[in-house]
Amino acid sequence: MNNTGFTGSTIIRLDSVDSTNNYAAKLVKEGKVFDGTVIMTYNQTNGRGQRGKNWISNTTGNLTFSIICYPKMLGAKEYFLLSKVTSLAVSDLLNSYQIKNKVKWPNDCYTSNGKIAGILIENGLHGNQLEYSIVGIGINVNDHPNQPEFRSSSIRDELQYAIDPEAVLKDFLKHFDHWYLHLRNSNFTSIKNTYEQRLMGINELANYSVNEKTVKAIVKSVENDGKIILETNEGEIISGYMDEIKRVP
Ligand code: BTN
Repeated sequence: MNNTGFTGSTIIRLDSVDSTNNYAAKLVKEGKVFDGTVIMTYNQTNGRGQRGKNWISNTTGNLTFSIICYPKMLGAKEYFLLSKVTSLAVSDLLNSYQIKNKVKWPNDCYTSNGKIAGILIENGLHGNQLEYSIVGIGINVNDHPNQPEFRSSSIRDELQYAIDPEAVLKDFLKHFDHWYLHLRNSNFTSIKNTYEQRLMGINELANYSVNEKTVKAIVKSVENDGKIILETNEGEIISGYMDEIKRVP
């Protein structure tokens, strides 16, 4: 596998922090960090998720970390490619443990037992270019939240044995590096195609809430700006971003 070894050359380990994304944002503002710096903790006290939700992770060996990137090669309209490569890195990581998984738009990773990883990317723009991105990742390694209304899983649950989170982090960074190199080499088509091959709902009917209305549709594709293209049962094409469209049970 092509591996630049650049992600995680510096890892800042914190005993405890509210959110590794917040900590990373402070470092970026102070202008003190290199591309590929990782901030990680086993005790994140106020983890943030997508759509304003919390990310709950206990301290028994799950991974919560953020990667600081300066993806100068991406225009603002292509920003979602970074989400795609991050999802693909999580998916490759799980594949390396023979854990069957699907990427869920916009950027979660699921096994048949539920959600196993979540991604929150926060971008800074300068004009039309991405100035920086903070790629926040939570991976349920040895535990997962116990919420009956929301199915989740962990690597341990899938494998039926405990696993060293440090080894998982190292593997993840290797996979992220591999896909980040695709970005740097502008292999955008291969990123888009691979993401769609692993995407939940591709050519499979499911329910989507579109501006408060529920429709049955299949996913046709996901653009590099994050827009999802759906085709309803009736052949109507609907498209929208994550604040407009949501997969529902
Ligand atoms: C989601 O699924 O809603 C996204 C969850 C992202 C959680 C990670 S944990 C590390 C980083 N710091 C945060 O506060 N959030 C992200």
